[in-house]
Amino acid sequence: MPYLLRYNPHRTALIAFGKRELDNLELSCPSKEGKQGGTATGNMLQSTDTVTLEKIIALAKRRGFIFPTSEIYGGLTSSYDYGPLGAELLRAIRNLWWEEFITHRRDMVGIDSQILLHPETWVASGHVNAFNDPLVEDKETHKRYRADHLIGDWLAQHPQPEEIGVEGLTLDQMGDLIERLQIKSPEGNQILPPRAFNIMFQTAIGVVEGEKQPVYLRGETAQGIFTNFGNILNSGRLQLPFGVGQIGKSFRNEITTKQYIFRTLEFEQAEIEYFFDPESSDWQALFKNWQEAMWAFITDGLGIRAEGLRWRRHSDQERSFYSQETYDLEYRFPFGFKELWGIAYRTDYDLKQHIEHSGRDLRYTDPKSGRSFIPHVIEPAVGINRLLLMALCDAYWEDTQNQRTVLRLKPALAPYKAAVFPLLKNKPELVDKAQAVYGLLSHKFATGWDERGNIGKRYFSQDEIGTPFCITVDFQTLEDDTVTIRERDTMVQERVEIGKLANILREKMG
Ligand code: GAP
Repeated sequence: MPYLLRYNPHRTALIAFGKRELDNLELSCPSKEGKQGGTATGNMLQSTDTVTLEKIIALAKRRGFIFPTSEIYGGLTSSYDYGPLGAELLRAIRNLWWEEFITHRRDMVGIDSQILLHPETWVASGHVNAFNDPLVEDKETHKRYRADHLIGDWLAQHPQPEEIGVEGLTLDQMGDLIERLQIKSPEGNQILPPRAFNIMFQTAIGVVEGEKQPVYLRGETAQGIFTNFGNILNSGRLQLPFGVGQIGKSFRNEITTKQYIFRTLEFEQAEIEYFFDPESSDWQALFKNWQEAMWAFITDGLGIRAEGLRWRRHSDQERSFYSQETYDLEYRFPFGFKELWGIAYRTDYDLKQHIEHSGRDLRYTDPKSGRSFIPHVIEPAVGINRLLLMALCDAYWEDTQNQRTVLRLKPALAPYKAAVFPLLKNKPELVDKAQAVYGLLSHKFATGWDERGNIGKRYFSQDEIGTPFCITVDFQTLEDDTVTIRERDTMVQERVEIGKLANILREKMG
């Protein structure tokens, strides 16, 4: 068993964001015009938008998507809270994932297991021994860094005549590289040789000091699926192939900091374990089907531009020891292409381990042949928070012509599907009528309300948070019961009857 279960330099080679990197984090993202008017390959893009992580961070804070955790106490490392709009966006992503992969599929069921599992779970899965990051320490300041990140940063600043990859290096190999290239800490000091740092969070159950039982906050949601495999089989009369999905919080004591919500200590995962009979199912075909489903969810489901996505296959060196094949679906974040969603063929590794450690029979018996065996599994695993970051980056658009910032979110993702305005706030008849329209819509979908300032500012304010439609109640409304719908991206307005408003909006939302 390689000592590193998790260490995956490519996946995590996302630079530790120092101030310097943040200043340079710029990506020219293709504009949405490319999607609307261009080709499937995205080569016909007509203009570019500049999206930086700093701009996303600023907008997300200003408009109530994402706040630093415990900010009034100076914040907590690599931890973020989601504000009113962020909570809506998270909920939209979660719901879309659940509908797509659980509700709409006959071969899938969902569960909701605990964050605290029996500690033996993590011994069996290998996390206690091998869920490690490579850590180095500055000899002078005692500050700690991820060795692979440090080496990657150093190589980026000191190009070498020969190509040097950090991918899949062992601790010793990293140590040799640090010595050979005389790599120093960011403060310019010598560093101690790399060592393995276990990133599982430990806590304890019990009330009496000294008698407390150590337990771990789960490092992945997947293990709750494996430990429930027998219960799910017995209660659900399921037949292979079938999958089990769940969404929930996972925790990792990540060494890296300053990666915004891309890499946090606490995050939400949406994981699927797809179980099958390796003798009667072709794993490669299943794997390909899942890759297609993942791609379709991101592009069709979340409305992300295909040109910002790519697949990357893990090399033999990089792949986790339990996996026979691993791909990452990567998104072009402002800091480069990085892992969004992983898919791995985990074989029968996990169930086998739990059978061995628990003594329980977790085999499946084929109802036709009577053959009992341990199913194999394909695992598509994604982070909901990473999906949210991608959605913000992909939607961000500076419409310089109209001097506005727009989040061109797919309506299904937008925190508010519509916003209602009375034209003037000091005309009670307009406000009352607008309130009635708000009541009508807010019972059907999330609806915003704004009566402050001039109407143009209100439109722009909604554009910035991605509201696809703004409904204005004006003096004509009082005469003929019609309102205007103003569309976010085109800014085109049309007048419709209030009686037809909800249906028209639903149709427009697709
Ligand atoms: N069960 C397999 C597993 O956990 P992983 O690649 O370590 O695999 C799956 O995690 C997904 O969870 C990643 O693709 C990423 O989207 C998300 N993720 C992992 N660590 C994260 C972190 N520290 N912060 C935010 N998201 C994270």
